[in-house]
Amino acid sequence: MKKLIAGNWKMNGSLAANEALLTALAAGLGKIPSCEIAVCVPACYLPQVQALKLTHSALGAVEVGAQDISAHASGAYTGEVSADMLKDLGCRYVIVGHSERRQYHAETDALVADKAKSALAAGITPIVCVGETLDEREAGRTEEVVKRQLAAVIHANGHCISEVVVAYEPVWAIGTGKTASPEEAQAVHAVLRAQLKAATDQSARIKILYGGSMNAANAATLLAQPDIDGGLIGGAALKPQDFLKIIAAVPV
Ligand code: PGA
Repeated sequence: MKKLIAGNWKMNGSLAANEALLTALAAGLGKIPSCEIAVCVPACYLPQVQALKLTHSALGAVEVGAQDISAHASGAYTGEVSADMLKDLGCRYVIVGHSERRQYHAETDALVADKAKSALAAGITPIVCVGETLDEREAGRTEEVVKRQLAAVIHANGHCISEVVVAYEPVWAIGTGKTASPEEAQAVHAVLRAQLKAATDQSARIKILYGGSMNAANAATLLAQPDIDGGLIGGAALKPQDFLKIIAAVPV
């Protein structure tokens, strides 16, 4: 399966900064990349990013995603963005259950599962994030936590689970410069792979990304692990040269 390198811009950017970033990305992408590429941008910039894709043909290979989605279809949910709205704006992916949403917006496993369901119903691929905190890792609870988080999504989505992308993002590695070692990451990815295999006979098509301080220097060894099918990149996705180096580090 082709690996996926997805940028998570988080709440960063501006009309000017996005244009500069994507123009630099387009200039560096040159030949057809050997992996799939996506950028998950703030929802308000989706139309701008789609317009820039039309301006720069090299961005044709770059899929566009959002960072959150409402679990509701429409109605009195002030501030929320629905699956159909994201679909309207050409979203191919949406991140659900990022640890920052679980932490700062009290998103539960059940809500994350419902958000994944809304995305799938609209034909958008949810990138379902799971990951343990430092306390949970030190207490030896990593496996239990990530399995519980993924189980909720499997339970709510039945056979459609084969359509999701999973991202293992240890909370202690996000934005901290501390990366899980390739062996630590691989061990958790293998657990998630086994869980998906038990849930569907289509598990071979499910990508499991690693996220958490992946950068130009450590990407190659992480991406060489057998169960790491790509990366979800935060900070380094805002620096076009770093993002391009990560793309170039994908083993062919
Ligand atoms: P980071 O973020 O690469 O800046 O650690 C990853 C993420 O939160 O998706």
